[in-house]
Amino acid sequence: MSLKQTFKVEPKGALQGSIRVPGDKSISHRTIIMGAIAEGTTHVKGFLEGEDSLATLEAFRAMGVVISEPNNGSLNIQGVGLHGLQAPQHDLDMGNSGTAMRLLTGLLAAQSFSSVLVGDESLSTRPMNRVTDPLITMGAHIDLEEGRLAPIRISPAQLEAINYEMPVASAQVKSCLLLASLYVNGSSSITEPAPCRNHTELMLQGFGYPLQVRENKVEIKGGGKLKACDIDIPADISSAAFFLVGASIAPGSDLTLKHVGMNPTRIGVINILRAMGANIECLREYEAGGEAVADIRVRYAPLHGITIPVEQVPLAIDEFPALFIAAACAKGITTLSGAEELRVKESDRIQAMADGLAILGVRHEVKTDGIIITGSTISGGEIDSKGDHRIAMAFTIAALAAEQSITILECNNVATSFPGFAELVRTSGIDIRVSES
Ligand code: S3P
Repeated sequence: MSLKQTFKVEPKGALQGSIRVPGDKSISHRTIIMGAIAEGTTHVKGFLEGEDSLATLEAFRAMGVVISEPNNGSLNIQGVGLHGLQAPQHDLDMGNSGTAMRLLTGLLAAQSFSSVLVGDESLSTRPMNRVTDPLITMGAHIDLEEGRLAPIRISPAQLEAINYEMPVASAQVKSCLLLASLYVNGSSSITEPAPCRNHTELMLQGFGYPLQVRENKVEIKGGGKLKACDIDIPADISSAAFFLVGASIAPGSDLTLKHVGMNPTRIGVINILRAMGANIECLREYEAGGEAVADIRVRYAPLHGITIPVEQVPLAIDEFPALFIAAACAKGITTLSGAEELRVKESDRIQAMADGLAILGVRHEVKTDGIIITGSTISGGEIDSKGDHRIAMAFTIAALAAEQSITILECNNVATSFPGFAELVRTSGIDIRVSES
């Protein structure tokens, strides 16, 4: 059995300096997937060497794709073309990663071989029928546990085009269906109820694959080709978010985050923090590989509570654990609604955060689809992260505003999205100790 990691974080401190957080997780997954089914060799910089994106990388190696060993975020993928993947000799283990499992299900449903996707305890409780239901409508042959859970068992099928109106704003569902649609005769369309991250659409275009985006609808025709290209993956705004909040709540902070992905479908955290009074400045805005990028400077500023605009929710969906800490430190009340999706992430993030806030003495009221948080004095204590990487990181930065130390249990999964997190927060000004038992 592997050892369990605990973080012990001393109170107070300030974040200072200039840092670059690891590569974007969503873009790293998509880079491996599209590089693998492209024609030619794709050269990549900035790849996230975290457990989630490495699970995707290993899955494609298991399907015969030659991928060089990542070296400081650089790697090469020798694409095999749309029809060049080989049957894996074992189950494909997606670990903790919902993105890996849901995107690969779309791609594998269209292959001429069978496959089985498995995941860890958390992933095995997350709803997979949101991707398999529309895939089955397309003609896919898929079996799930209890009709909705992994393991996902896929048998070969010729898929047909679909016109699908997504019931939830999910980039994973959209991306799954776009990948499946590469293999159909004819055109598919996918309509989203609200804008959500569009990295799949941008990257398909970057690989030379035509598609049309009109308002909230993507149309794509099967049977084309992806052509290998060079990809420069920006730093992950979802990882930067912990530092944006940390610097905002800790007096004396002045921190620059370099080369951060600023795709408009991902910057809800900046919009929300600015509405709360945060001092966040974009120093240099530019483009890398079709994605908006910037260096961001964040300085301490007193925050105030707000009602979070509901249209910002999908644009900040992974950043709410960090934003709940901002709300706990803000003057007044912050209200979040329309965020029931948080209940089916790596943990039930509304409940996991509420449990931790209760231990720290932060006043709050849990709702089915959100939470109301009243800015409070943050005490200290022992918090169960429920094995969720973002819960662990959110309570780490909470220590910057706490009265006593905070101990966070079950931190191993921080490595799924943010390898080197403890070292980076330590060099930026947080007194953190990592222990294993
Ligand atoms: C992701 C989409 C989001 C997000 C996840 C990454 C992606 O999930 O929470 O961390 O890369 O497409 P949903 O599609 O379930 O909202």
